[in-house]
Amino acid sequence: MNFYEIDSFDKYQDAYRTSVEQPSAFWDNIAQNFHWHTLWNKTLEWDFDGPNIKWFQGGTLNITENAIDRHLAEHGEDVAVIWEPNNPHEKAVKLTYRELSAEVNRFANVLKARGIGKGDRVAIYMPMIPELTIGVLACARIGAVHSVVFAGFSAHALADRINDSQCKAVLTSDGMFRGNKSLAVKETVDEALASCTSVETVVVVQRDEREVTMVDGRDVWYHEACVGESDVCPAEVMDAEDLLVILYTSGSTGKPKGVVHTCGGYMVYAGYSFKNVFQYERGDVYWCTADVGWITGHSYIIYGPLLNGATTVMFEGVPTFPDAGRFWQVVDKHRVNQFYTAPTAIRALMAMGDEWVNDADLHSLKVIGSVGEPINAEAWYWYHEKVGRGRCPIVDTWWQTETGGHMISGLGDLSPQRATFAGLPLPGVQPVLLDSDGQEIAGDGVEGYLCIKHPWPSMLRTTYGDHERCKNTYFSHYNGYYFTGDGARREDGMYRIIGRVDDVINVSGHRFGTAEIENAINSSSVVTESAVVGYPHDIKGQGIYAYVILEGEGHDHDQVRREIVATLVEEIGPIAKPDVIQIVPGLPKTRSGKIMRRILRKVAEGDTSNLGDTSTLLDPSVVDVIKADAEKLQV
Ligand code: WT7
Repeated sequence: MNFYEIDSFDKYQDAYRTSVEQPSAFWDNIAQNFHWHTLWNKTLEWDFDGPNIKWFQGGTLNITENAIDRHLAEHGEDVAVIWEPNNPHEKAVKLTYRELSAEVNRFANVLKARGIGKGDRVAIYMPMIPELTIGVLACARIGAVHSVVFAGFSAHALADRINDSQCKAVLTSDGMFRGNKSLAVKETVDEALASCTSVETVVVVQRDEREVTMVDGRDVWYHEACVGESDVCPAEVMDAEDLLVILYTSGSTGKPKGVVHTCGGYMVYAGYSFKNVFQYERGDVYWCTADVGWITGHSYIIYGPLLNGATTVMFEGVPTFPDAGRFWQVVDKHRVNQFYTAPTAIRALMAMGDEWVNDADLHSLKVIGSVGEPINAEAWYWYHEKVGRGRCPIVDTWWQTETGGHMISGLGDLSPQRATFAGLPLPGVQPVLLDSDGQEIAGDGVEGYLCIKHPWPSMLRTTYGDHERCKNTYFSHYNGYYFTGDGARREDGMYRIIGRVDDVINVSGHRFGTAEIENAINSSSVVTESAVVGYPHDIKGQGIYAYVILEGEGHDHDQVRREIVATLVEEIGPIAKPDVIQIVPGLPKTRSGKIMRRILRKVAEGDTSNLGDTSTLLDPSVVDVIKADAEKLQV
């Protein structure tokens, strides 16, 4: 029996049972469906204390041979990538596997010619254009580690990420289109590079043809560098545990950390989960609306689909340009069979009325997916009825940057469905709910801290340059478990994700640490101290609510708010703009100086009727002022 393709619920159950009883045999079975130069001699070695996690040791491979070359002989003329531009009047681009192969190999040769090789880190800071996918794959081709940074991050945030992993090269574009705007990109890179010494090469793709400064000896145009380069570049043979991906993500403390994924395990899991969650069949057209700047784009725009020889749609634009029907027009235009988006987009479109979606045909859709945050019941039913026309299953995929791939999700229409529930774990995934003492909670109808008790191939191996941090963040809360940071509920073995239980907030599917936002706010000269919490937001899922103590007196509050917003945009990027800034005389602190965030969260939620015990506060009267001012803000 080959467990790679799960095509019935019985087979899922069989696969799941095998994966728990004989994990190594199970993953041997899955991994043999890929092309390896040398087969592994040890499937799994692990302990969660180190942590030390190694999959497929002794195995060698290159993920691009699996994502591209493997399909050339029989399916070279199949379309690999359909690129849909921001402006619907610009022509969509289709790249067959053969064309993609030529582009990736050519750009791999460009990188090599610029002295980039195995193990070097390459930052990619780009809009959603084909060269982004080509760039990612070209890095993998030569064994360089890609670190994609979402193009909405500021120069400061980009510089931090480049410096943390000492990137040798940056791939970027002159500018980018977003809705009816055109924005600078290269300029932001230049600003970032003023404080980065490791970067020797910048390759610039021409997109909006704005004027940019090119630094002699360092910067080169993509289209010029490609001239004369061969479209054949032998794939670097990688060890299964060699680095493939660094992707920065926020946690409850400190700066964003570089989550590390390795070649073998990531490949096996991205390919396997894509195939089964979306029930992808050859010839289907699949579209994930995420940005490659996030893990969703890595695993489910690029690697997962291409590993399965799929046709993957890459969209440059936004859901509301030129109008709120764009998603549905693109589905019809390219006859999309599997559509994958985030609850925040669903809610935003739902708020714009049903006529947009009603106007579309949407007949091609077979499976629709959700990712990034809990999906509320109203959005779930709207998505199911209006987009899925009541006939498409919703796969609500719970996972994380750190997990590399889907962990809990339905598999197309095979699995039982329940609104707002992610559902059952994928084969190989062993979730548990823990209580605050770290004891597993048995049974159904229970809630607890969501942890995973056995490794899966695409789990993070470390946080770049700081293994201790990886241990402390994920493996120290509960001994012997990977701690997800989420709370969850279980019913009939199915999981419903409640949300983060740490100081991480999820704003429109973007993840921030409250400490990270506070640090940025505090860098503003007018601010003495701040505290940030998330609160329920109709469209974004969570909004950012900042309590701020000002330096000195007599400030114009509107002016101060503008300054704080500007600081956040500069330190992190426009995605970190707070929704509410409340200026406060003090923060509710305990005698030991700890901020009682519980109170701030309640106030932000507009629920001040019962703030619980405030007797341990140093100055309980500050709460009354905060409450009264918050009520004024909210009217
Ligand atoms: C956090 C991970 C990996 C996908 C993109 C986000 C939340 C993710 C779901 C879901 C409820 C979800 C969790 C998780 N989350 N998917 N289907 N239902 N919550 O990746 O930025 O690493 O964030 O997103 O809170 O911990 P990320």
